[in-house]
Amino acid sequence: MKAKIIGTGYELPAFEADNQYLSTLVETSDEWIRERTGIGKRRLAREETTTSLAAGAAKKALARAGVRAEEIDLLIVATITSDTNTPSTACRVQAELGAVHAVAFDINAACSGFLYAIHIADAFIRSGIYRHALLIGAETLSKLVDWTDRGTCVLFGDGAGAAVLTASEEGGVIAQSVGSNGEKWEVLSCLGRPVQNPVCQSQAEPGYLKMNGQEVFKFAIRTVPLCIEQALLKAELPAEEITWFLLHQANKRIIQSVAKRLKQPEEKFPMNIETCANTSAASLPILLAQMEEQGRLKAKDKVVLSGFGAGLTWGACVLEW
Ligand code: ACO
Repeated sequence: MKAKIIGTGYELPAFEADNQYLSTLVETSDEWIRERTGIGKRRLAREETTTSLAAGAAKKALARAGVRAEEIDLLIVATITSDTNTPSTACRVQAELGAVHAVAFDINAACSGFLYAIHIADAFIRSGIYRHALLIGAETLSKLVDWTDRGTCVLFGDGAGAAVLTASEEGGVIAQSVGSNGEKWEVLSCLGRPVQNPVCQSQAEPGYLKMNGQEVFKFAIRTVPLCIEQALLKAELPAEEITWFLLHQANKRIIQSVAKRLKQPEEKFPMNIETCANTSAASLPILLAQMEEQGRLKAKDKVVLSGFGAGLTWGACVLEW
């Protein structure tokens, strides 16, 4: 049995902030942001929360899959912006959906989170422990970024994407390659809140997202092609046989560079970074759901998903639609 995606969904906040709007907050311009990143606008959460976005995406994925919430055995939310430290976003989504039979938990693997969730769900489904999994990537990065730092605040957006996976004899996950390198954690980090208690006072600075953009860029263009090649090797498939390469939407130039290194046409690398920006763990499932909604994914298509981000973390997955 393999883990097969049978339905996807996504949810975006209502408020749309274009580059022009951001140039009223920090010294930047539409031209700079578009040229360096490919981003034109992003959605930012006002009323919405990570939980509400996650639940919205999940409901659509369940409807598309034709699976009832009570049938879900495993519910994973990949997020670095849970509304509450505890309980997990997954438990709150479980309550909202009525997924009463699910074991529910969050994972933190930043922008690779959805890939890691597939890695976990595939193992549980393959081993016969669970039949239906609901995987969600959900973020409100707008709450973590420093809105006075033009080097980071222009890059991110909010949203959620979800996918229902089921045990299937046909199609599904063929091979994966997943990795982490904790030694490079400082390249992209967000510290927790300051500790002020009777025995310990530390870290006066509030915990905003900090990034060495050029290091992240170099890491991505080196590691992503390698991990995709490793996954393809395991799947015994040449890149030419892949219909779509869906990559984490961090930067248009990273995606173009990966296409070049894999010697594949850019048209095989769909993007939504222009309208959604970088939504971290939500970026892959949002893109996947938009592709399904647009009817661009056909039965038997071979698809590569690849995520990369803080940790450092990365992963690639080859699947048959
Ligand atoms: N608007 C205008 N100018 C800016 C802005 C901005 N928003 N941000 C930085 N600048 C300025 C800098 O101050 C610098 O000015 P200086 O030359 O006078 O010192 C100049 O632009 C160049 O800055 P760099 O940081 O060298 O610009 P770079 O070409 O590296 O682009 C970017 C920055 C877009 C962040 C790039 O490094 C990148 O995309 N890195 C990948 C990081 C990424 O995608 N992170 C997302 C999160 S991680 C993930 O999802 C994997």
